[in-house]
Amino acid sequence: MNVTSEQSRSIWPGLGVDARPLEGEAKAEVAVVGSGMAGMSVAYELARSGKQVVVLDRGPIGGGMTSRTTAHLSSYSDDSFRELIRVRGLDAAKGWQESQAAAISRIEEIQAELGAACSFRRLDAFLFLAPETDPSVIDMELVASAQVGMIALREEGVPFVGHESTPALRFPSQATFHPTKYLQALAGAISQNGGRFFQSAVASVEESEAGVVLTTLSGGRIQAEAVVIATNAPINDRLGISAKQAPYRTYVVAFEIPRGSLPDALYWDTLDPYHYVRLESGEGESDILIVGGEDHKTGHSNDGNERILSLARWTRALVPNLGREVARWSGQVLEPIDYMGFIGRSPGQKRVFVSTGDSGQGITHGAVAGMLLSDLILRGESPWEQVYDAARKPVKAMGEFIRENASAVKHFADYLASGEVASAEALKPGEGAIVRRGLSKIAAYRADDGTLFQCSAACTHLGCHVHWNSFERCWDCPCHGSHFAPNGEAINAPAFSPLTGSTG
Ligand SMILES: Cc1cc2nc3c(=O)[nH]c(=O)nc-3n(C[C@H](O)[C@H](O)[C@H](O)COP(=O)(O)OP(=O)(O)OC[C@H]3O[C@@H](n4cnc5c(N)ncnc54)[C@H](O)[C@@H]3O)c2cc1C
Ligand code: FES
Repeated sequence: MNVTSEQSRSIWPGLGVDARPLEGEAKAEVAVVGSGMAGMSVAYELARSGKQVVVLDRGPIGGGMTSRTTAHLSSYSDDSFRELIRVRGLDAAKGWQESQAAAISRIEEIQAELGAACSFRRLDAFLFLAPETDPSVIDMELVASAQVGMIALREEGVPFVGHESTPALRFPSQATFHPTKYLQALAGAISQNGGRFFQSAVASVEESEAGVVLTTLSGGRIQAEAVVIATNAPINDRLGISAKQAPYRTYVVAFEIPRGSLPDALYWDTLDPYHYVRLESGEGESDILIVGGEDHKTGHSNDGNERILSLARWTRALVPNLGREVARWSGQVLEPIDYMGFIGRSPGQKRVFVSTGDSGQGITHGAVAGMLLSDLILRGESPWEQVYDAARKPVKAMGEFIRENASAVKHFADYLASGEVASAEALKPGEGAIVRRGLSKIAAYRADDGTLFQCSAACTHLGCHVHWNSFERCWDCPCHGSHFAPNGEAINAPAFSPLTGSTG
């Protein structure tokens, strides 16, 4: 089953790493579940330290949200330093900034060590004032940056039409890279250090005094001394971590642009949701301008193409010499209600570790996971353990906690509403909708060849009601971010089982 529609395809090629399904039993010192930036960073750090590592992924290696990223590498918080300090306090905010800066340096070291052809480069990042936002934001962030120890320079103007004298902050020595080429280099190094890759969906994680046992949906079993759950949203969590973060869809569009039109830098505005812009090398005389934004809570809108058009309009007004569009896609980020990821021991467990809560900065969070979790597994401690503690209670973010969870509860009430179409028979090829059948809700989709797929609309994570996403052609769960293919197959965690009663 094709997991995305024809229109949504990022510019990053797949890794092409061979991974066969896990059959029967296997043993490892550490089993890593998930092969995105987080899982691969942890697996690399452990494999190069001599640990026997196994990496399992439900899909192709590196084919999760990391293959949809825009790869801005920054230690500035996209939630703002003022908010970080307000919600977590100055010490935690300093620890967060220090760890994110260390993550960029670690990526820089690793790509040099491995000779990875991933175009890693240091560059400036600019935060510039969006006309609709409070003009004092830039000066307040200048002060907050100094408080957490990050260099920021106050400037006038960014190189966009109409922004010649816009107030901005420049953060020197941030970075970017080609995400899947970097993961490819990590995969090669993991294999060279004896690591193994399997393509199997993990369905259970059982810890005992003897170790941890993983079982896969197809009946495989792995016994390990420690397990790292790096499935973006944790598959081993019911309502612990999942209740402390919320899923958001974000959109990206990429255009050709004549080389030399814009300085190579990262650009973000102060809008909420904000726009994020950067360059990637292209072919011939053109580069590629990658522009993201227009985020919304997962499952709350079904207008992806309109959001892409809005991004394109915004970009063309700022950069009039843009060339043709080369790609458009969307993805999902998980917003922790107190702004910092959850990276550490899985709450209540000793040998099960977790990395989640990427907050739109999951590439650097993944590299933090590499350092923090390998330190915990190899040495039992990390300097950033408290900053990212997965069991923490977000006391100062209680308002946000109540709001996000009230929104999740509302999605259970969707069962009482009428269906979106009277009958599945009314669906045209390529369309999906929720249909009421007696007391149940059915997620119905008609494929381009006319085949009708019908499954229960109840998400197999905790039972919220899924919503059709016509841009991606998949079912999105608004509660904790699971996605399902049109035929009901689980394609994004935390769910791993298909929607029930699938027919087609
Ligand atoms: C459009 C977009 C733009 C972004 N831009 C940036 C940016 O500029 N800078 C930045 O730092 N971050 C950015 N992010 C965030 C960042 O890309 C992600 O947070 C990060 O890549 C997530 O990495 P991960 O390893 O946690 O998850 P993933 O890459 O999603 O990897 C998780 C893996 O787990 C696997 N899996 C799931 N369930 C199971 C199971 N049951 N069994 C086995 N395997 C399973 C999946 O198949 C997947 O391969 C962006 C994200 C998006 C969507
Ligand atoms: S993702 Fe938790 S209920 Fe759907």
